[in-house]
Amino acid sequence: MSARTILVLNSKGGCGKTTIATNLAAYYAQQGRAVCLADFDPQRSSLQWLEARSPDRPKIEGAAAFDGGFRLPRTADVVIMDAPAAIHGADLTALVRRAQTILIPVLPSATDMRAAARCVHALLTVGKVARHQTRLATIANRVPPGSTIQGAVETVLNSVHLPYQSVQSQIYRPLERFLARLRIPFVATLNDSPSYALADAQGLGVYELRDSRSVWDWVPWRPLVDWLDSRRSLPRAV
Ligand SMILES: Nc1ncnc2c1ncn2[C@@H]1O[C@H](COP(=O)(O)OP(=O)(O)OP(=O)(O)O)[C@@H](O)[C@H]1O
Ligand SMILES: [Mg+2]
Repeated sequence: MSARTILVLNSKGGCGKTTIATNLAAYYAQQGRAVCLADFDPQRSSLQWLEARSPDRPKIEGAAAFDGGFRLPRTADVVIMDAPAAIHGADLTALVRRAQTILIPVLPSATDMRAAARCVHALLTVGKVARHQTRLATIANRVPPGSTIQGAVETVLNSVHLPYQSVQSQIYRPLERFLARLRIPFVATLNDSPSYALADAQGLGVYELRDSRSVWDWVPWRPLVDWLDSRRSLPRAV
């Protein structure tokens, strides 16, 4: 059977591509899957994360894919691909060709949201995406923890017909509407948390830290990994 291929991509820098790629790689390795982490960024952030990882932890195979000539390893069950920032044109098309699923992290700012919309537009010009042979999803990243509580308040108040919009809703709503028209889901909202820097320094995922804060930080990953395990994240059969 061929490997499950997941690409983390956004041409905007610093939105969390490497963080999401490394955390997913660590999660799948913990689940006993044979994971390949392919770093397409010459900055090598994913590979540096892997170099910091203890050999006692579940193994992840690294690949310096930015050198060109990357081939999907036959032995891998899951291939996580970390894209560089500012990717477009032929490079974007070549990268997209390899992926069943593309995850687009988006930071909660108007600038980042506009950049995400541009990135989605660019992706839709790639034939494979337009033909639904690759599935897209967005992830809200680095959302202040207070917004999560406000989100819960919003749900409760709206359920008793008291209209209220949390800050998070106000920020993400325009992008949500745009994505809804294109039927692209928002699959997770990840907290802004110091756990990510802590895990990053040790070559770990927050899933592996197992302290009380990181257990809490892992909670919003559940809908993401459930979506990735479902058929909804897979391309339409051709
Ligand atoms: N949810 C989060 N909470 C706190 N810090 C985060 C979170 N996500 C990412 N970061 C931090 O933000 C910084 C940028 O993240 P990351 O390197 O993953 O972005 P990137 O999109 O890969 O950047 P680049 O475009 O340069 O490759 C890092 O220092 C990372 O630890
Ligand atoms: Mg990166």
